[in-house]
Amino acid sequence: MANHRISCPLVLALLSVFFYSSVVLSAAPVTYNVVSLGAKANGKTDSTKAFVTAWTRACASANPATIYVPVGRFYLRGVIFNGPCRNNAIRVRIDGTLVAPSDYRVLGNGANWILFKHVNGVTVSGGILDAKGTSLWACKSSGKSTCPSGATTLQFSNSNNIVVSGLTSLNSQMFHIAVNGCQNVKMQGVKIIASGNSPNTDGIHVQSSSGVTILNTKIQTGDDCISIGPGTTNLWIENVACGPGHGISIGSLGKDLKEDGVQNVTVKTVTFTGTQNGARIKSWGRPSNGFARNILFQHIVMVNVQNPVLIDQNYCPDNKDCPGQVSGVKISDVTYQDIHGTSATEVAVKFDCSSKNPCSRIRLENVKLTYKNQVAEASCVHAAGTSSGLVQPSGCL
Ligand SMILES: *[C@@H]1O[C@H](CO)[C@@H](O)[C@H](O)[C@H]1NC(C)=O
Repeated sequence: MANHRISCPLVLALLSVFFYSSVVLSAAPVTYNVVSLGAKANGKTDSTKAFVTAWTRACASANPATIYVPVGRFYLRGVIFNGPCRNNAIRVRIDGTLVAPSDYRVLGNGANWILFKHVNGVTVSGGILDAKGTSLWACKSSGKSTCPSGATTLQFSNSNNIVVSGLTSLNSQMFHIAVNGCQNVKMQGVKIIASGNSPNTDGIHVQSSSGVTILNTKIQTGDDCISIGPGTTNLWIENVACGPGHGISIGSLGKDLKEDGVQNVTVKTVTFTGTQNGARIKSWGRPSNGFARNILFQHIVMVNVQNPVLIDQNYCPDNKDCPGQVSGVKISDVTYQDIHGTSATEVAVKFDCSSKNPCSRIRLENVKLTYKNQVAEASCVHAAGTSSGLVQPSGCL
């Protein structure tokens, strides 16, 4: 009896050690170091093949997998990291810099430099993506009609459960980061850097996606810091520094007759410095069934911003293809709360809404914007709503 009592816990202990180690072993992440697979850290040798091999193996792995990019500069042509994969925990850990071809013709006609497609559970952490966009910007600025439109530096498309952290994107040809058709994407500690006059270099573009969170991010670029396209829902943006750039923009919306709307967007604790716009909603002056609703801009600081608070429903570049100049997009339930700072122009608050679909339930709460140390001006066309607390400029809703 005594023997039996001792052996029972012993057996249990042995069994649990056995099960514990087998669970740990079977879940042990595998690491694929791109250098071991032939990548060269000299910034010149084409390392694309080694990255694709690392991805193919990580994606085929039944267990969580890590792709490791050590310190150094790795030359990469366009790559597609395609899913679906056998596991849903792939981490791409980058200590080095990925370098794009400096001749923009190599990538310029492809839509993307680095594309993740149909993946689930991918984390990209650290690293610098140096897209070498300056020569394409020069081509575009020279007004040549033969310049390609350029590649987005990093895109996630039709993917779920994505994390991007501590990544730096430098001098993209076109958009820096794009999220399209995704669910549950978290970006944090991202840095985006391009010249204030670089064309089309949006920082982060989100569209047709739900549950995207952008935190603790610094964006200096030549176009929108963050642009929010049709079909974006449940987007959370917090603690972002924007400038130079064109601000945070919902839109352009309503380019198409049939278009998904934008709903439930929170933009909080953001500083705009020297930007063209601050909090902007923009739609084409064209017929559309699109909408933007339940939008909150909260705790925003404006430093010398040209259009701090702006709704523009008459967007029509070159006055082309906008029959009647009336937007079909319905904008409602937009709240501006605790917005203060300085405007670089006299009109700091401008709601220029659609005559066919006036903006409704616009709320201004504790807004104080000055121009040259004076209260700035507000302008409202086809906009209705309420003001509460101290609102300066006041009296246009
Ligand atoms: C709005 O989006 C946030 C995430 O940004 C989410 O937590 C919240 O549940 C959403 N609200 C509604 C009503 O869907």
